Amino acid sequence: MRIIHISAECYPIAKVGGLADVVGALPKYQNKLGHPTSVVMPFYNNEFTQSYAFYKIYEAPLLLGDSEITFKVLKTKDPVLDVDVYFIDIPELLHKDYVYSSDDTVRFLAFQIAVLDWVLELKDKPDIIHCHDHHTGLIPFMLQESYKYESLNKIPVITTIHNAQYQGWFGYDKLHLIPEFDSSNTGLLDWNNTINPLAAAIKCAWRVTTVSPSYMEELKEHANGLEALLGHESNKCIGILNGIDTNVWNPETDSYIIKNYSSKTVQSGRKANKKWLCDQFNLDVTKPLFAFIGRLVGEKGVDVFPEVFKNSLQNKAISILVLGSGQSDTEDALNNLKPLFQGQYNAYIGYDEKLSHIIYAGADFLLMPSRVEPCGLNQMYALRYGTIPIVRRIGGLKDTVIDITNNGFGLCHDNVSAAEVEHAIDRATLLYNNQAKFKTIRQHIMTIDHSWDMSAQAYINLYQSIN
Ligand code: ADP
Ligand code: GLC
Repeated sequence: MRIIHISAECYPIAKVGGLADVVGALPKYQNKLGHPTSVVMPFYNNEFTQSYAFYKIYEAPLLLGDSEITFKVLKTKDPVLDVDVYFIDIPELLHKDYVYSSDDTVRFLAFQIAVLDWVLELKDKPDIIHCHDHHTGLIPFMLQESYKYESLNKIPVITTIHNAQYQGWFGYDKLHLIPEFDSSNTGLLDWNNTINPLAAAIKCAWRVTTVSPSYMEELKEHANGLEALLGHESNKCIGILNGIDTNVWNPETDSYIIKNYSSKTVQSGRKANKKWLCDQFNLDVTKPLFAFIGRLVGEKGVDVFPEVFKNSLQNKAISILVLGSGQSDTEDALNNLKPLFQGQYNAYIGYDEKLSHIIYAGADFLLMPSRVEPCGLNQMYALRYGTIPIVRRIGGLKDTVIDITNNGFGLCHDNVSAAEVEHAIDRATLLYNNQAKFKTIRQHIMTIDHSWDMSAQAYINLYQSIN
């Protein structure tokens, strides 16, 4: 089966969050299963694209409403990735040093039209078009409805919802940018009198997946306004748990970390990584180290941190380290704690891939008090590196972490509240003080298999069921 994934992000080319990790990994595993799989994404102006040479494989005019621009499809000259990646180059819209911005409607609409214009010209058509999130949400609609793409409308198209909080809404003033279709079907684009690309994808895709079974269930109750639609379309919806790329996320070979280790050499390996973190961030290496890595937004529950950290650092012998960026009020609140708890607490406000790997390899516990967590990859990386996750029971966190009181290996809480997170930190500290149990759990979690093998096959089974 020839598969193409269409996405705004793909690791290591352009990453904002977990979407990049998924699109950078799943296609590789599908290739390994014998299905030629490629990725199509925008050509941004970033470190990756500046580091490689590209050649043009296709060029054509692109009609966006009444304006005509040109797009190119590029490939890298060297085979730098394990899968074929096709870059859609529209310099005036996409060739930027960011992935997302305020003019995303036009940027990603042009991207999606360019992708389909190019697919129209391909000799070997894909057997499956797999779209990710709302940035590619109009593709299922255009395949089904736009006259121009009529010859492609037998190609099964699936949409994966990585996060239903973001739907890509835009107004009817931009309707004319979508290639012509029967206007009596405009309702397929609509949700609550607005054009809603995620809703359009849910209506028009042949199958809709999301990134964990629990999140699929939760969406029927909380989907940022799309609950009824998801309920109505539930027959074609399925939750498939994300995996992780165990070649990239492997403490035995990870070139970002200070010392490599396996589950057999975990003590000495993690000690070296923890020491580096504590030296770098002025923390006490003898205390249990709690860390957070992620976007500093409401969904991640980080607004409880200032209160939790103040209470915990005053009352307990622990250290805390935060790596993240996002809402400026949360960034400020986390920065303001630094002078109050020197030697106990630190925060790096920003994005740093290398540092994230060292934290997974050196922190004792990873905090994830998420309000919404469709899957969450951090807890799976933490497990693979021997860091014990402390999670709220929600979405993919619920599907991947079992509490120690149920013969499990993590610490779980039910609500996003300062009191519950503090209580989880207390329980984790007790566990840390029982070093024999702590070390047994740590060794065990490194052996849990969260690789993409099973889920990549689950997607193939899904594709086959509609082919
Ligand atoms: P989401 O996609 O909702 O942000 P995920 O848990 O799926 O959450 O994935 C987050 C990914 O982004 C992980 O690879 C995590 O390590 C990485 N990440 C998030 N914030 C940062 C940061 N500030 N620096 C480095 N890596 C980060
Ligand atoms: C989204 C979700 C996250 C998930 C990721 C990859 O960003 O917020 O929970 O792990 O996509 O699917």
